[in-house]
Amino acid sequence: MKKIKRIEHPLAQHSLSILRNQQTRTEAFQRHTAIVSQILIMEATRDLLVQEIDIETPLTPTVGHQILDSLVFVPVLRAGISMLVSARSFLPWAPVGFIGLERDESTASAHEYYQKFPDDLHDKHVLILDPMLATGGSLVDTIAALKKKSAQVISVVCIVSAPEGIEFIQYKYPNVQIYTAAIDSHLNEKKYIVPGLGDFGDRYFGT
Ligand code: PRP
Ligand code: URA
Repeated sequence: MKKIKRIEHPLAQHSLSILRNQQTRTEAFQRHTAIVSQILIMEATRDLLVQEIDIETPLTPTVGHQILDSLVFVPVLRAGISMLVSARSFLPWAPVGFIGLERDESTASAHEYYQKFPDDLHDKHVLILDPMLATGGSLVDTIAALKKKSAQVISVVCIVSAPEGIEFIQYKYPNVQIYTAAIDSHLNEKKYIVPGLGDFGDRYFGT
């Protein structure tokens, strides 16, 4: 079974269209990134394990739930930072690892400039956050780096994905689950996603 889940929530589709629109300015771009990210993270955490706990409401004792799974968020710098804010609004205690990757504009291959992960990831569920999945090079490198730290359960959360990138990840790491709000048509000659939304990092950070 292919491990790709496209999230078609109407609020996500609405916000994504605002992200795609070239007229959208930085402030609205940030706001709608947060909305889409929250919806995606809700879906990516749908199957987290919970355990029952006893709690008391102001009226009576009752049974509640608390999350058992240990999640770790890994935003891919720089654009992934935009999704971390939403992830941490749900799970502020989850540890965060970082990897810095930048695509060379002429070759579209990514080079790593920073890495800091929690020490041992073998019993953690790692959620990689990166809004754009284009060739898949950045995410394949990120998954490889996480596997070196013994990560076993890895999911990827992206806002816009290209079929080429999805295929590459599925070929290299068939067990990695991908969540995305959109699967676009193709990559252009510069390896930008079409129709896409342009350079996410530049639009989000106003550079
Ligand atoms: C973008 C994006 C992904 C990557 C996707 O980052 O945020 O990390 O490109 O492309 P790929 O699937 O072909 O690897 P970019 O390198 O532009 O850096 P930035 O986040 O600093 O803007
Ligand atoms: N990175 C982006 O920000 N946009 C693309 O279309 C491809 C890679």
